[in-house]
Amino acid sequence: MDIQVAAKPEYGNWVPKRMIYLSGFVGFVFLGLALVFWFLAVLAGLFFLVAAYFIYARRQFSLKGGKVQDRVWTLVLENLDWNGEGKALDIGCGNGALTVKLAKKHPKAQVKGIDYWGKRWEYSKSICERNAAIEGVSERVTFQKASAVALPFDDGYFDAAVSNFVFHEVSDAKDKREVIREALRVIKTGGKFSFQDEFLIKQFYGDIDDLVETIKSWGITKVEFVQTRDADFIPRALTLPFMLGSIGLICGEK
Ligand SMILES: C[S@@+](CC[C@H](N)C(=O)[O-])C[C@H]1O[C@@H](n2cnc3c(N)ncnc32)[C@H](O)[C@@H]1O
Repeated sequence: MDIQVAAKPEYGNWVPKRMIYLSGFVGFVFLGLALVFWFLAVLAGLFFLVAAYFIYARRQFSLKGGKVQDRVWTLVLENLDWNGEGKALDIGCGNGALTVKLAKKHPKAQVKGIDYWGKRWEYSKSICERNAAIEGVSERVTFQKASAVALPFDDGYFDAAVSNFVFHEVSDAKDKREVIREALRVIKTGGKFSFQDEFLIKQFYGDIDDLVETIKSWGITKVEFVQTRDADFIPRALTLPFMLGSIGLICGEK
């Protein structure tokens, strides 16, 4: 008997397996050294704790566990006040999870996902395309390699734009606010946006109220900050500053 298993999309996990293996490995190295220098057992214990924390976080993020990633992507779309007519852009799309979700929410929209797809993440254009095909949206969704610092689109080309956890990672932008400005450039006047990132980390964005005022000063009609780190589905253990404790969302209308 032939059993056919339906292909599943692969959206990845914000805690890559290698973070768990690396902290576990360092733990074992210290454990070995502790046979000679007993005090290193403390460091071994510390690294095993870190590995255990990452295992927990990975499980919470996954669809089989706490579904936190999926719910975080949903927050972006819930705060995008768009009617779904026209073209939308997902900046730093990773494996295309938010891109596909946006296309499924708006059946008439044409959606483009761009990413630089470096070695740091286990994401790629081909996985994006496969995911879009599995989810049945590939006719309206395309992916392209491009950098968020210099988007290869004319001013006002898109009707809407979204992004999730990307701007702070853009290494070739010293001032991360310039990445927001570039994202807004490609939206038409009256177009909608919803960007989620670690906006509460001052070294990236400065004071959040100042950031909102700065964005308004660029001529953006409506700008709102939403403190998504307080979302009730995020377990407390995941609200450490380097996890989801600094996230927020900037949304509005150009
Ligand atoms: C934390 S991941 C988030 C991916 C996806 N948005 C999500 O929510 O799963 C950060 C993403 O930013 C992308 N990225 C980093 N620098 C970039 C740049 N200069 N231009 C475009 N994407 C970039 C990475 O390749 C990676 O896919």
